[in-house]
Amino acid sequence: MSTAPIHAVPAEQLATVTFDATMEERIAELLTHYPTKRAALLPVLWLCQQRYGWIAPGVIEAVAARLGESPAFVQGVVTFYTMFYTSPPARYVLQVCETLSCALCGGKELVEHLKTKLGIGFGERTPDGTFQLVGVQCLGACGSAPVVQINDDYYENLTIEKLDAVLDELAKGKEA
Ligand code: FES
Repeated sequence: MSTAPIHAVPAEQLATVTFDATMEERIAELLTHYPTKRAALLPVLWLCQQRYGWIAPGVIEAVAARLGESPAFVQGVVTFYTMFYTSPPARYVLQVCETLSCALCGGKELVEHLKTKLGIGFGERTPDGTFQLVGVQCLGACGSAPVVQINDDYYENLTIEKLDAVLDELAKGKEA
C-alpha cells in the first residue's frame, strides 16, 4: 500500500478563498445528489479538505457563502468532526487506536514505540512536518487489531517491525 501524503496549503494562501472553476464544477455536481444545500455540507467540506489539505477559516467563509449558511454554523460542523483538520496537518497523520482490542493486541506497545521513535506525543508533529500523532478510539477494525490509520488508509495486524517498515517507506517518499 502506498499512502498519499497530505499537501496542506499554507494558511496565508487561504485567508480569502475563491473557488476555482474546477471546484465550482465539483460542488455543483455534489449538490445534485442532495435535496438541500445544507444536506451537502459534509461532502463539500470533505472536497475542500482534499483540495486544500485542511479547513482554514477562509475555507469556512467560502463554503458558508456557497451554501447559504452562516460561517458560525459551518464552523460548528467542522469542529464537531475529528476527521476535519482545523490547522495544517503533517504530511502523514497517524491515528493510533487506543481502544481495548487494539490495546490488548499490542497497541500499547505501538504507542510507546511511536512516541519514542518520532520523539513526539499525541497531538504533536515532528519538526520536519512529516508525521503527526493522534490517539483515537475504536477505528472499527477490531478483528485485525492493532490498527493505525495513516491519512485515509488503514494499516492492520501491525507489529512494531511492520509499522517501522511503513514509516521508513513514507519518510523516504516525503519529497516525492
Ligand atoms: Fe482498535 Fe476497534 S479496538 S479498531
